[in-house]
Amino acid sequence: MPQEGIGRAVQSAIYRAGAFGRRPAVPTDGTQLEPAARKVMSRRGFAYVAGSAGSEASADANVAAFDRWRVVPRMLVDTTQRDTSVELFGRRHESPFLVAPIGVLSLADDGADLAVARGAREQRVTPILSTQASVPMEEVARVLGGSGHWYQLYWSSNDHLVESLVSRAEACGSECLVVTLDTAYLGWRPRDLDLGHLPFARGEGIAQYTSDPVFRRLVAERVAAERVADAPPTARLRPTPAAVATLLSMSRKHPGNTRHNLTAPEPRAAVETFLDVFSRPSLTWEDLPRLRALTSLPIVLKGILEPDDARRAVDAGVDGVYVSNHGGRQVDRSVAALDALPGVVEAVRGTGSTMPVIFDSGIRCGADAFVALSLGATAVGIGRPHVYGLALAGADGVSEVLRNLRAELDLQLALTGCTSLADLGPERLVRVGQQ
Ligand SMILES: Cc1cc2nc3c(=O)[nH]c(=O)nc-3n(C[C@H](O)[C@H](O)[C@H](O)COP(=O)(O)O)c2cc1C
Repeated sequence: MPQEGIGRAVQSAIYRAGAFGRRPAVPTDGTQLEPAARKVMSRRGFAYVAGSAGSEASADANVAAFDRWRVVPRMLVDTTQRDTSVELFGRRHESPFLVAPIGVLSLADDGADLAVARGAREQRVTPILSTQASVPMEEVARVLGGSGHWYQLYWSSNDHLVESLVSRAEACGSECLVVTLDTAYLGWRPRDLDLGHLPFARGEGIAQYTSDPVFRRLVAERVAAERVADAPPTARLRPTPAAVATLLSMSRKHPGNTRHNLTAPEPRAAVETFLDVFSRPSLTWEDLPRLRALTSLPIVLKGILEPDDARRAVDAGVDGVYVSNHGGRQVDRSVAALDALPGVVEAVRGTGSTMPVIFDSGIRCGADAFVALSLGATAVGIGRPHVYGLALAGADGVSEVLRNLRAELDLQLALTGCTSLADLGPERLVRVGQQ
């Protein structure tokens, strides 16, 4: 709905607060969020969030790809009324932003997924809840209070668990199922490897599993089998300070009483079970009809970077594709997600499909969103920036990061002679520099 956008109001609020000596809680320059968050995050937490695969060339390329595009403003257009809304699967979203699914948010702030939900709700931005969340989806949905969310699925090697996660997602009001395809295995991530730190092995980021009835049954079966084999639960952990810290972390994160968990076999069995069932590297296009049969929710495939894969997605009858290279965390020297976007858009539209093409990987400011939307994205996911906002100022930090992006995009539209996202297209951009 066209109206005076939020850009000017946000600017004025910041300047007015500044007159009373109040500064924004998070840097308004999105590129400064990472260095600011680094100062307040634990070494392990920052490594996990900022780190990428191998040489980290993919993450660098994601950001550099935006630098090759320049915006061409048009003049003498009445832009007093602006509309940044976008329709996705039957619901109108006030802005084209989504909160990208991010696992293990507890590494950034104790409020984790609940704080992100509060911040996202405040900005009326739809969050995509991760399968690796620190808080069960039902609790997050309660905080969201029906304001709308999507659920991101990692396709487990256990079919019953997949069914259970999908039915829980439906039951707690998810509007869309985002299936992440690029994580058959975890990428080679030197920052985490050098610290020997995998949060899941410490019981962090597995709350969707430990709250799941099917998963809990698998854990109970493992515990029973180990009892038969007479293997004491902590026998494999040497009592080093690190092992004790791991045991403590597992016990704290596991549902129930921490003191009881310290001596119970379930927390460790849950970690082991998770490591067994996390992903299904054998997944192929032939598996998609089974998912289609499981749910009536729209299905979006995340991780699509290649035009033929995009066409196959359309043929497979899914409802959307999500161009992303997981923020460069999976494949080293991957094509930058932005460089892949035009080819995927062309392939999808070439089939006659009007399905949404979601984009993430590298968006740091409103102008980045402007570029991705001009290259054909229907909506854009905000990944690391909201995690840094969370680390800096909890739910308020998330809200501010999202608010700033909305404000910046709104002003970018106004200043380039656009009144709605429908005005965006490749003709708004020029490509500069090499390749
Ligand atoms: C710390 C971290 C955890 C992530 N966890 C997930 C996840 O659980 N599921 C998923 O589909 N993508 C996950 N992603 C990828 C994001 O959804 C998104 O694709 C990526 O963050 C985009 O890159 P950017 O943050 O550099 O813009 C994660 C990314 C980060 C940085």
